[in-house]
Amino acid sequence: MTNINEEYIEDYIRSIIPTNKDYLVQIEQYAYENHVPIIEPEVAQLIKVLLKNNKPKNILEVGTAIGYSALIMAESADKEARITTIERREDMVDIANENIANSPFKDRIKIIKGDAQDILPQLNETYDFIFLDGAKGQYLEFFKYCSEYLKPGGLIMSDNVLFKGMVATDDLVIRRKKTIVKRLRTFLQYINNIDGYTSCVMPLGDGVALTYKEDK
Ligand SMILES: C[S@@+](CC[C@H](N)C(=O)[O-])C[C@H]1O[C@@H](n2cnc3c(N)ncnc32)[C@H](O)[C@@H]1O
Repeated sequence: MTNINEEYIEDYIRSIIPTNKDYLVQIEQYAYENHVPIIEPEVAQLIKVLLKNNKPKNILEVGTAIGYSALIMAESADKEARITTIERREDMVDIANENIANSPFKDRIKIIKGDAQDILPQLNETYDFIFLDGAKGQYLEFFKYCSEYLKPGGLIMSDNVLFKGMVATDDLVIRRKKTIVKRLRTFLQYINNIDGYTSCVMPLGDGVALTYKEDK
């Protein structure tokens, strides 16, 4: 329950989503048992639709965890698409590497171990799809780097932007999350008003923002 949609809506949407392939179901099970946060099923479906439609060739992700969303992206993107994903926790990187090695996509996903704050300034490629799913309080900082690396016509997708509804109303804010909520509000204001970009915020999963870089 994310406080974003009524539970019956979420349950219904999830009930009509087809089951993923076995190797992904095993990762979902591991994530559930070990409390590893991975993208919600409806967010995974959105990623699949976007990648099948947009056909990005070079994808960047911030926040690999155990490699689940990277594998969802690999499965939906074109055969020649490459995915670079950044993760700062060594234990997560080890599990992600194992999951990727056991998948059909080991040659297409590269994990960079390190803090995105240090890694992002060093990248020297351009990307046509970027998925932000790392520390929520750092989204604005990450976005500023990522928007530089995003090709015109490309998309940045940011997950958990409504943060269990707290971003939309003070009534839900818990004290120790105040700073993250404040930063997410600043982030959403920024991406909705920056010249050359068009954004939308969707009440899907824990809140998803999509930002399109104008192709003029
Ligand atoms: C929500 S999980 C990612 C889930 C993953 N995208 C998926 O759906 O399968 C967030 C991950 O981002 C990592 N992370 C958070 N802040 C980071 C940073 N500044 N640099 C690199 N990784 C970060 C965390 O260690 C955690 O594993």
